[in-house]
Amino acid sequence: MFNFDEIVDRTKTPCEKWNKYKGTDVIPAWVADMDFKSPPCVIEALQKRVNEGVFGYTDIDDETYDAIIAFLKRHYYWEIKKEWLVFTHGVVSSMNIACLANEGESVMTTTPIYPHFIKAPKHANKEVLAIRMKEENNRWVLDFQAMEKAIKPTCKLFMLCNPYNPAGTVFSKAELEQLGAFCLKHDLTICSDEIHADLLLNPEAKHIPIASLSESLAQKSITLMAPSKTFNIAGLQASFAIIPNADLRKSFKKTMGSMVGGINLLGITALKAAYLEGDAWLSELRLYLAENLKMVQAFVAHNTKLKLLDQEATFLAWIDASALHVESPYEFFLQYGVGLSDGEPFGDKNFVRLNFGTQKSVLEAILNRMQKAMNSL
Ligand SMILES: Cc1ncc(COP(=O)(O)O)c(C=O)c1O
Repeated sequence: MFNFDEIVDRTKTPCEKWNKYKGTDVIPAWVADMDFKSPPCVIEALQKRVNEGVFGYTDIDDETYDAIIAFLKRHYYWEIKKEWLVFTHGVVSSMNIACLANEGESVMTTTPIYPHFIKAPKHANKEVLAIRMKEENNRWVLDFQAMEKAIKPTCKLFMLCNPYNPAGTVFSKAELEQLGAFCLKHDLTICSDEIHADLLLNPEAKHIPIASLSESLAQKSITLMAPSKTFNIAGLQASFAIIPNADLRKSFKKTMGSMVGGINLLGITALKAAYLEGDAWLSELRLYLAENLKMVQAFVAHNTKLKLLDQEATFLAWIDASALHVESPYEFFLQYGVGLSDGEPFGDKNFVRLNFGTQKSVLEAILNRMQKAMNSL
């Protein structure tokens, strides 16, 4: 049993999440990391490595490759090859590399979405074809009709977020097959950000890497994964791209050049320990987060002016606050001492995103404050 209820005073370190509201009575519930300590196996591996005392240039050893390969096989029945792996220090960097490396003039993605899906193509001077997700059967899903209508021959890349940040959708096999067919039909490479893959909260849902569906999709895909969200090690900056096609991999690596270095040695140490020994911790984390999600769902159900669709993954709840009819729902809840993510940079200012990856007592305090805000209306 791991103790996810243990309060960790993160104000002692300059962590982004708590630093933003330092010195004020605001409980932060925004940026996507959790308030839990990483698994003991990760902390112990890091302590052991630090005790060695020398931190020079470091290779990635075979054990690390094997740990990733085994983790993906164990969790997703996906068999990858060592040479498909390209390490980077972050998924956002990889998204930018994928956009820069792509030969098309425009990039298709969806909205509302984690802002870097829009920023990365823009940085690469590409036009962004952002297709609004739609509500169907109480889930946020892809709008294939709108995608068909908007696609252009100049577009050669689709940027997918699965599981979906901010709405927590886990795309089903049928949905991924339909998307895969769309991308193959229009000759689009798929850059699939699967950083939240390990954080499924609905036991019925199953994460399927789109690249694992068929050889033709594998050959058109760049899958981005990392242990950072899962094991709460975002500050260690360790991630990897899985690129089965040799030409795609070559152009990705060429674009990285020597500008984007690999992951640092403590990141590698943490990644290896988490993938080798972190499964038990991860199973308990998922249960804990699923209970937290129930608390958020109960709060929303109690407040009919708020809306939350079914959510299958992530510790981020995408709450529709449009019925409040306030100028900025983010500012509204901030006045009551809760620092949510503003929906605006995600593409809809009538929403807020609540990070419930925290101790139950903290989440309770957040929801109590939000209730006070609702009662004031
Ligand atoms: C979908 C998604 N991709 C990427 C990232 C950031 O990844 P990294 O810290 O590895 O750049 C986040 C963080 O919130 C995310 O939610």
